[in-house]
Amino acid sequence: MKIKERYVEFVNENILRIYEKKNDTSLFGLNEPERNVTVEKRPAVGRNADGSICIRRNGVTVFSEKAVDKDHAPEEKVNFDIAFKEGHKKSDNRRSYKTRIGIALLGEEDKIYGLGDKAAFLNRRGYEYVSKNSDDPTQHNETYRSLYKSVNFIMVNHDRTWYGVFYPSSYECTFDLGKHDPDILCIYSDKGEYDYYLFLGDSPLDIVRAYYSLVGPGIFTTMKFMGYHQSRWSYTDAEAHEVVRRHAEEDLPLDFIHFDIDYMDGYRVYTVNENYVPEFKKTCEEFKKQGVGVITIIDPAVKKDKGYSVYEEVKKIRGFATLKGKEYVNEVWPGDAVYPDYFRKDVRDYFKNITKKFMEKYGITGIWGDMNEPASFKGPLPEDVEFPGDERMILHDEAHNLYGEYMSRTLSESFREENKRPTVITRAAFATTARYTASWNGDNQSLWDHLRTSLPQVMTMNLCGFFMNGVDVGGFGNDTTKELLIRWLEADIFMPYLRNHSALGTKRQEPWSFGCETYEIYKKFLRLRYEFIPYLYTLQWQAYKYGTPMFAPLFLYYPGDERVKEINDEVMVGDRILHAPVVDQGEKRRVVYLPEGRWIDYFTGKAYDGGRDYIVDMPIDSTGIFVKAGAVIPLMKGKTYVDPKEINEIFVYHAKDPEDRGDICLPFDLHWDDGESLDYEKGVYDTIRIKVGNGKAEIERLKNDFGKELRFTLL
Ligand code: GLC
Repeated sequence: MKIKERYVEFVNENILRIYEKKNDTSLFGLNEPERNVTVEKRPAVGRNADGSICIRRNGVTVFSEKAVDKDHAPEEKVNFDIAFKEGHKKSDNRRSYKTRIGIALLGEEDKIYGLGDKAAFLNRRGYEYVSKNSDDPTQHNETYRSLYKSVNFIMVNHDRTWYGVFYPSSYECTFDLGKHDPDILCIYSDKGEYDYYLFLGDSPLDIVRAYYSLVGPGIFTTMKFMGYHQSRWSYTDAEAHEVVRRHAEEDLPLDFIHFDIDYMDGYRVYTVNENYVPEFKKTCEEFKKQGVGVITIIDPAVKKDKGYSVYEEVKKIRGFATLKGKEYVNEVWPGDAVYPDYFRKDVRDYFKNITKKFMEKYGITGIWGDMNEPASFKGPLPEDVEFPGDERMILHDEAHNLYGEYMSRTLSESFREENKRPTVITRAAFATTARYTASWNGDNQSLWDHLRTSLPQVMTMNLCGFFMNGVDVGGFGNDTTKELLIRWLEADIFMPYLRNHSALGTKRQEPWSFGCETYEIYKKFLRLRYEFIPYLYTLQWQAYKYGTPMFAPLFLYYPGDERVKEINDEVMVGDRILHAPVVDQGEKRRVVYLPEGRWIDYFTGKAYDGGRDYIVDMPIDSTGIFVKAGAVIPLMKGKTYVDPKEINEIFVYHAKDPEDRGDICLPFDLHWDDGESLDYEKGVYDTIRIKVGNGKAEIERLKNDFGKELRFTLL
């Protein structure tokens, strides 16, 4: 097969761009670091016999392309009619795409990670996924080719070497991760070009950070956002009051309550249904006084409705998508609906301002952007629906995977303008969307399988630079059970974004829905979460600043340990906490693998030697939290909502190893700031190194530009 001219550009020693023709990235602007390459440190770029590229680092081949022609893995010639009659579907086996990037998988044991929110295991080798944001509420599983997000980043591990690949195109593309040919990883696209970034480094953390340097920096949320969120489709005013009252009465932590679509008048965005939520403004104000913020859902599609101001005003500026020049209409919750052209600045400004006014009018704290794939009930939007952006016409095929990003960017601007950190959540996203918003992974279900999936899903989102991500705890669709709800909260207790949310008509799953025992356990774990807020907040800072995942697979910190490369049910929360929850129905104990080093059980203080499996008892009210021996962790106590102004004392936990009399200390650099404004971007924050020695907490202020007075008390 003849290979066209292929170019290799060095962004730096660890980031290369390999292309025949570059994708036009203007719609999502990458943050290419300044070009800076020391010739001696450059990896060696070679050519295979067929002209494809291979890369050697430190004398070892770490990466090699492999030509893939259009007949690669030919289709099975079988008559499928009989199978179709029973409702079976055939997956798309087409390989004849315009662009076919082939990468050799160098060994049978190579692992492939990445691709964002797929409901899959950490290692995605052998599967095929399609980057095309979709909205499908049926039961997601690992063979689901597309979910809500298109994050075209993968990371490959071969022996001790690692590399990452990012495909910088918003057009639909397919990642065949060794499904058709176990020795080749392919990226296919009809409209995207032969063009990708290659990330090299010594460890997976190097790769992830190099990728983040290109697509980041991600959002840094308020400290409050890391508290607990309670949601339901759809609380009435009275129900919301009941939720807030019960939380307050029993000191059960709560920071946000979410209002789903029924708070709107006929699902018209930026309106309020006075019957469903009478006195909404008063409600928001009362909640705020109790430390509880209100987050309202906003969908992009606008009801096509004469006389409805949002529709009329945006129509006046011709701000809706068109088809052959005429307003394009599909259907979403409000019935006939039209789609804002967020690719235009005046349209974004309109929605930015109306969001600001709406939030001010009622006292709303945050916006939950949903249905922004964009969803459409009357079939998918045709590929040629037009978004006449500012500089050029953008068609839906290019716009689709970026629609959620442009909506999120619009929403987030309405906060940033007022020097506030955005409290924005999105469902749909492209690789670069975490710059603007936190995210959740859409409509999961109350299934043990989805509880298990939540861990690799959020860990993978973290590898891809989406740190502030979470799932619907308890499951969205279907009915949860007492045991599932408890185990789910336990398992996801360190998830960066923690929200319990459930669908209309399903069994209620607020903390008290299953009686006393559940309630007490729920309370115990929510309080635990709140204790860890200073630690988690600092992890978010490190993620934002350096691209270090806060909710990470074990291999990120122990890349040399073969055992951890496919552990889906244990999580590293930062570099010093290993969380191994029960994720199976009926289990009262589980096998925990602890990597090298010594580990201390957070609850009992018992020490374990790493590099081995243990069977650990975990009755229904417990989970496995293991802390690296000697590690320091900053905690807070007794708070039921997060207000940084009210936090004056940090409690220092030291994971003492009984065998070394507690002498070893792994210090921690606490990040502190006002927790809500953008002043951190100007350097207004504190970095406080916490150590333990001579039986007390020792503090060193490495940076003191915010100057918060805090007391440190060793536990
Ligand atoms: C979508 C969202 C879900 C929400 C529902 C109603 O299914 O994913 O979270 O509750 O719409 O707005």
